[in-house]
Amino acid sequence: TIFENSAEGAISVAREIAALIRSRQQQGELAVLGLATGSSPIGVYKELIRLHREENLSFKNVVTFNLDEYYPMQPDELQSYVYFMHEQLFDHIDLLPENIHIPDGTLPIEKVKDYCQAYEKQIDEYGGLDLQLLGIGRTGHIGFNEPGSSIASTTRLVKLDPLTITDAAKDFIKEEYVPLRALTMGVGTIMKARKIILMAWGEGKAKILHETVEGRVSEEVPASFLQQHPRVKVVVDQWAAQEL
Ligand code: GLP
Repeated sequence: TIFENSAEGAISVAREIAALIRSRQQQGELAVLGLATGSSPIGVYKELIRLHREENLSFKNVVTFNLDEYYPMQPDELQSYVYFMHEQLFDHIDLLPENIHIPDGTLPIEKVKDYCQAYEKQIDEYGGLDLQLLGIGRTGHIGFNEPGSSIASTTRLVKLDPLTITDAAKDFIKEEYVPLRALTMGVGTIMKARKIILMAWGEGKAKILHETVEGRVSEEVPASFLQQHPRVKVVVDQWAAQEL
């Protein structure tokens, strides 16, 4: 769906999430959401906060799993995705703290593998992700699944692509302060979600969006694997859509 601007696109995504949460509430069930960071979902979170404050949307039946986190990373660092999620969403809604899951960037390296397997298992124990929100990196990454990530990949520790490090430098003052690695759900983890919404705003995303939506499905552009998902919606503004 192509929107005039990102604000309108974000509102439509937030409404879809709210409808899912409310329909689960009526059935007395949980809604399991996969959440993303970066600038792309900020407008969605803003609208969800407004719906919570002004239209009684409760998050008490919501369980969240975030896609990724830098590694190593302390939760109280300004660049951490824990900090981001609290600031942009969690601190402003009634989501229960025990229902929040974000990959733990503080773990010693020898514990990472078991932790990643446990993260996958936890998602499965909640019955899988009802809806996964995604942004897209200029490398074609979803989460931090950089080029070369296989369609079957699961939650793991990865090396960041040099272009991703350059793009992240704005958040870390200097490029050399950007962590070289991250924990991320895999492409396979994302593909198991029952529904996926990919958002892209601005002309900086036009080229990679074209490759994602209309290009060849390949590990070189991990987001292109989404072409094989049965229920994926791509929400863009007119500038991100200009090469489609
Ligand atoms: C980071 C995140 C991705 C996100 C990407 C794009 O690398 N790990 O999940 O999609 O940035 O960021 P933005 O939305 O700011 O363009």
